[in-house]
Amino acid sequence: MQLSSEKSLPFSRRIREGDAESPSLNPALYRPTTETKGGVNFQPVTFHNNRLIILDQTQLPRRIRYLNLKNYRAVAQAIKTLQVRGAPLIGVTAAFGLALEAQNCSKSDQRCLSHLRKAAKFLKQARPTAVNLSWAIDRCLQKAASVSSSQIKKTVIKEAAKIYHEEEARSFAMGRFGAKLLKKNGRVITICNAGKLAAPGLGTALAVIYTAFAQKKNPLVYVCETRPLLQGARLTAFELTQTGIPTILITDNMVGTVASQVDLFLVGADRIAANGDTANKIGTFTLSIIAKYFKIPFYVVAPTSTFDLTKPDGKAIPIEIRSSAEVTTIQNLRITPKEVMVFNPAFDVTPNSLITGFITDKGIIYPPFQKSIKKVLGN
Ligand code: MRU
Repeated sequence: MQLSSEKSLPFSRRIREGDAESPSLNPALYRPTTETKGGVNFQPVTFHNNRLIILDQTQLPRRIRYLNLKNYRAVAQAIKTLQVRGAPLIGVTAAFGLALEAQNCSKSDQRCLSHLRKAAKFLKQARPTAVNLSWAIDRCLQKAASVSSSQIKKTVIKEAAKIYHEEEARSFAMGRFGAKLLKKNGRVITICNAGKLAAPGLGTALAVIYTAFAQKKNPLVYVCETRPLLQGARLTAFELTQTGIPTILITDNMVGTVASQVDLFLVGADRIAANGDTANKIGTFTLSIIAKYFKIPFYVVAPTSTFDLTKPDGKAIPIEIRSSAEVTTIQNLRITPKEVMVFNPAFDVTPNSLITGFITDKGIIYPPFQKSIKKVLGN
């Protein structure tokens, strides 16, 4: 196969003045562990000295821009516009958004909890599909409700940091479990972005690839560009190449052509129903059908925080419909006649029958999913 390559931008180039506030990596509420270090060292979200800093993912890979989010409304806006994105990272960032609101509470403020509830409601509506968002917010709220007013501020900040650490640890665990499935020189297809930009630590689907790479298995990754917003081309290709992992970018309609050359499909998830039906970036369902046709294993890589046992199946998962401008334009350039109608669902649902297994932080879950998911996650 003939490949063309373009030199990728060095991640470590100087942050432009005015663009950026470099987050401190000094002792903080959370700190990257040694496993996170190595390869590309960037922090998509940092909460330190009561300041929430995010890496603006809409600008990548052209520009490294950090934003200081001052309140929960700014956090919700950043989530809505995909400046911060990826299911686990959305959850963590929203939890820090609540922590920002909690900081405004004085020790004697009896209305602190109701302020937090209002902020929680606002944050939850930012994006409907990734369950990590409401899961992380509800966890912080529950903790806040269980302590006296004087303790709320400290408690919410602590809980948000705890969620961050847990998600980070989950990513390493998924990486270790999943890497066992990848043989030496294994070839993988992935879609959207499920790496270090999408979750604390190593991400989800890419955690498996980073871990296999660290184990010298020499993986090769086919990355779907992921229209309409190109998370694959902009973010996944960037993360992988900057880590030195051989990466081949394909457009989404090339998967059928390259599928026979790969060993494994690895995708992330935004919400997994009790029966294993899985919502993930639009296009994932198509990949699963192609995988089935070629009899190639199709694994969903997701932390236990992405399972939603309150939803019996995929039909119950809310699917986000986004602006038509995301389809009619590419990087703000209009590419269509303006009269055209557009359908732009951000996610699709892959039925459980097309999924080989779930690589989770608690191990790999195999069919029958109705039983095995419940067994691993509890009731
Ligand atoms: O719309 P996005 O960019 O937030 O979509 C993200 C995805 O679908 C990812 O693949 C997903 O969150 C899975 S794992 C991080």
